[in-house]
Amino acid sequence: MSALIQLSNIHKTYHLGGHAQHVLRGIDLDIQKGDLVSIMGQSGSGKSTLMNILGLLDVPTMGEYYFDGERADKLNSDQRAEIRNQKIGFVFQSFFLLPRMNALQNIGLPLMYRGWPEEKIEEKSREILKKVGMENFWHHKPNQLSGGQQQRVAIARALVGEPDLVLADEPTGALDPRIGGDILKLFIDLNLSSQTTLMIITHDPKIAACCRRQIKMEQGHLNELEMVEP
Ligand SMILES: Nc1ncnc2c1ncn2[C@@H]1O[C@H](COP(=O)(O)OP(=O)(O)O)[C@@H](O)[C@H]1O
Ligand SMILES: [Mg+2]
Repeated sequence: MSALIQLSNIHKTYHLGGHAQHVLRGIDLDIQKGDLVSIMGQSGSGKSTLMNILGLLDVPTMGEYYFDGERADKLNSDQRAEIRNQKIGFVFQSFFLLPRMNALQNIGLPLMYRGWPEEKIEEKSREILKKVGMENFWHHKPNQLSGGQQQRVAIARALVGEPDLVLADEPTGALDPRIGGDILKLFIDLNLSSQTTLMIITHDPKIAACCRRQIKMEQGHLNELEMVEP
């Protein structure tokens, strides 16, 4: 395995209303390609802040970030958007599907942004829709789907472009535990069957326990749980 993500002494400070909040206080992290990693930590501990930096949605105040061997914290916003579109998929707690588009159209969005021809988008979107068990719901709009179904569509959208990295920010947080468990199983199967690197932010220790690496965010630092090899 080679490193997909390398963080070195990452800091993030927010300035709001004349008040500075030092959220990330020197984060070092290496993640290998194909790995499955969970991040836990109290609400407000900086998990989403870290995810936004990893996903190139935000930049650190200080420190170095190498993504796939390339220095990422020095890129401008167009260059960051390009890498996001080509290499990163996102899944959020609240799904973020576009309300006026059906499931198939929502899934195809990342490919549309890449300028793929329509027939190829539809073919690829149908293939991934099947993988998440939603082929019979392709024409449903988000408000015609349950929460669990919407999250399956959002997962399909995150995976359709075959990203190197999938970042999931509390993907099961809005779902009842049984549905959340199914979604998690799907996610892990997809991680195992492809080379996708998957990072899941979660409050649920059962979900974290399914991940090969378990990391805790505490006081702006990461503490990794030592795993005993079987
Ligand atoms: N864009 C922002 N501007 C100012 N403060 C923020 C911003 N985003 C997050 N924060 C603050 O940073 C802290 C960490 O937030 P967050 O990363 O969302 O935590 P978590 O995801 O672990 O709940 C919180 O106190 C939050 O209020
Ligand atoms: Mg959060």
